[in-house]
Amino acid sequence: MRTRTTLAAAAALALGLGLGAPAVQAAPPAVAAAPDIPLANVKAHLTQLQQIANANGGNRAHGRAGYKASLDYVKGKLDAAGFTTSVQQFTSSGATGYNLIADWPGGDTSQTVMTGAHLDSVTAGPGINDDGSGTAGVLEAALAVSRAQLKPDKHLRFGWFGAEELGLVGSKYYVNSLSTADRGKISAYLNFDMIGSPNPGYFVYDDDPALEKVFKDYFATLSIPTEIETEGDGRSDHAPFKNAGIRVGGLFSGADYTKTSAQAQKWGGTAGRAFDACYHSSCDTSTNINDTALDHNSDAIAYALWQLSTGTTTPPTGDVYENTTDVTIPDSPGAAVTSSVSVTGRTGNAPSALKVGVDIVHTYSGDLVVDLIGPSGKAYRLHNSSSDSTPNINTTYTVNASTETANGTWKLKVQDKGPQDTGYINSWKLTF
Ligand code: TRP
Ligand code: ZN
Ligand code: CA
Repeated sequence: MRTRTTLAAAAALALGLGLGAPAVQAAPPAVAAAPDIPLANVKAHLTQLQQIANANGGNRAHGRAGYKASLDYVKGKLDAAGFTTSVQQFTSSGATGYNLIADWPGGDTSQTVMTGAHLDSVTAGPGINDDGSGTAGVLEAALAVSRAQLKPDKHLRFGWFGAEELGLVGSKYYVNSLSTADRGKISAYLNFDMIGSPNPGYFVYDDDPALEKVFKDYFATLSIPTEIETEGDGRSDHAPFKNAGIRVGGLFSGADYTKTSAQAQKWGGTAGRAFDACYHSSCDTSTNINDTALDHNSDAIAYALWQLSTGTTTPPTGDVYENTTDVTIPDSPGAAVTSSVSVTGRTGNAPSALKVGVDIVHTYSGDLVVDLIGPSGKAYRLHNSSSDSTPNINTTYTVNASTETANGTWKLKVQDKGPQDTGYINSWKLTF
């Protein structure tokens, strides 16, 4: 027996503007300017993390009270800002550990951009640069997404991992918990571990050229030279993602390596001294932060999120044909409805990997049978009815449409096969 919920509000949302509205061809997506992340907000999070350590024996380490208090602080901010949060539990060294995962509702979940930091400190101290800085920078960037009420093309997910200091335990656990299919939906993982080092360098992970370029582009706008991060590849939470074949990127301002005189010349600070002399020590407190580095790196997180969440990854420069007119889907046993996209000005046949982006708002996705209808009239099944009670379909299908002419009228055909739950076609698009 499947259980059902009725949401009258969803039906009310279905505007039902009718069929036959002209298809619109979308302009190439312009990337809205990313917001400036207020340094004061990032520092306020660090003050809270310091106070949490002070109140809990001086640290925020795995298995200690300060860890869970840190998680509760970050989770509270995200819940209040409209994120969907979940806490994942694991056991390490005989203690319970926790990852915090936060999803920003919306966007294509088959192209998820995930951003993360580790939330634990070592037992020696409060871990404000390592990794309160990444924790606070990622948190404030997430809150900026909420303030902007960003409607990204791609789905945005954020993660704060536990027990990094015990050997990337939380992030390994998270990646292992994903099915192969779900790993394939993460198009990038961005990691921020130590981004406010007191004697800072500006290091960019070089694991993926496209992600590396996003950060290099940002620092170029500030005329700040960057270097490739070399202080121990695989020493933070991006490693399990990379090992699972996921593209990774990130920023780092240096740990216990020594700043050279060439680096001090271009970045300022003190040559012959560690980037962070308090790395893994009791002195990694609120005063162990370079505000300028923390500010630039936090802004860079927002820049990357705004850049990477817009547009589609494959193909990067495809032509998009879209219909954004809402079409009400009558409840079962109602007839099928269609929404049309007219393609003109192309030559030859459609591609063998035609991308069909489908955005359907519905209270029970298992009710829906969804087909793409080519100009020839042939149907390509995209989604079958099932007992899947998850609401909404927001994903991109790949269809071998190579026997269809590209030009002509393409239709998305949707039929509701299960009584009670309802919804509407929000938009759909073809990417050639
Ligand atoms: N938490 C990391 C560690 O203790 C810090 C670190 C060292 C790091 N080298 C790095 C983080 C390189 C990112 C990239 O090892
Ligand atoms: Zn760290
Ligand atoms: Ca229904």
